[in-house]
Amino acid sequence: ATRWPGVIEAYRDRMPVEPGWTIVTLGEGGTPLLPAPHLSRRTGCEVFLKVDGANPTGSFKDRGMTMAVTDALAQGKKGVLCASTGNTSASAAAYAARAGLSCAVLVPQGKIALGKLAQAVAHGARILQIDGNFDDCLELARKTAADYPVAALVNSVNPTRIAGQASAAYEICDELGRAPDVHCLPVGNAGNITAYWAGYRAYRSDGLITEAPRMFGYQAAGAAPLVHGAPVRYPETIATAIRIGAPASWAAAVTARDESGGQFAAVTDDEILAAYRLLSAQEAVFVEPASAASVAGLLQSAADGSLPRGSLVVCTVTGHGLKDPDTALLAAPDPRVVPIDPGAVADALELR
Ligand code: F0G
Repeated sequence: ATRWPGVIEAYRDRMPVEPGWTIVTLGEGGTPLLPAPHLSRRTGCEVFLKVDGANPTGSFKDRGMTMAVTDALAQGKKGVLCASTGNTSASAAAYAARAGLSCAVLVPQGKIALGKLAQAVAHGARILQIDGNFDDCLELARKTAADYPVAALVNSVNPTRIAGQASAAYEICDELGRAPDVHCLPVGNAGNITAYWAGYRAYRSDGLITEAPRMFGYQAAGAAPLVHGAPVRYPETIATAIRIGAPASWAAAVTARDESGGQFAAVTDDEILAAYRLLSAQEAVFVEPASAASVAGLLQSAADGSLPRGSLVVCTVTGHGLKDPDTALLAAPDPRVVPIDPGAVADALELR
């Protein structure tokens, strides 16, 4: 058996790298495409989960970060800089550490999940909390990177990120031997839907697939600018990863929807939490709330008829559940305390 080399080496001819560059990789990609029997029964479709929480730092961002940090190193940058709702900062911090570059992250004050903050701390990033939301952080990061180009901006406005993230579409097509009929994604800053669409289009124009999927993008109801067709000044949702009101890749996301015959729709926090619990309890896949938005959307679209029965569907679940322990423990009572005594354990478990 050969070792999975990471997405740049796995799809080298599709990646913007030059011979001789040092490839910065943590072995990202090659994640499970897992059949979802419960969701398949519920929707009358054949549903697979692309489990991108299985990446090295626990989210799909690693697919793009290997490219962005490899590029930054090749360009002679001293460090990387990003705005983030959490996952981009965790990924940037890890890949920068691997490359020996410094990393600075701008995050919305008090609005990033605990696990993501822990990762940025562990990998030695400099963390600045900004008194604003993600959109404010991104504007600030873009201006800072423009004025002080010693650091590379590694947000998805950096085209190398999109090239790396397109690898997920390649993996899905390679494994299925075709593209799905429908691809469901949570949408925040809209880089990922842009990347998947670029990936499917590339495979289609190279004749590796005959049809590209319809792209179904789901936003949280309190942060759904693409659904409303207008920016949201004060986005709000429990899914902090997609708490974004002015997506940077707005135009590309609309193109992906229109060219693919897809749709955008909004899911409420209650729908997100129901899908979140269903995923962990029924499919045994523990994701963070933003990732559950794609599955909440799948269920909504199956119910309202916009998803044809019998479709082959892939839902990307974008980030691991361990990222956000607070949401996992929401309303969960502390486990009962029992003395060191088998009888007490048996009583507590009602075994007699
Ligand atoms: N799911 C998760 C877990 C995310 O972290 C993000 C974005 C998305 C979905 C949406 O992807 O922005 O490409 O449309 N997180 C970014 C971050 C914004 O800073 O970590 P998108």
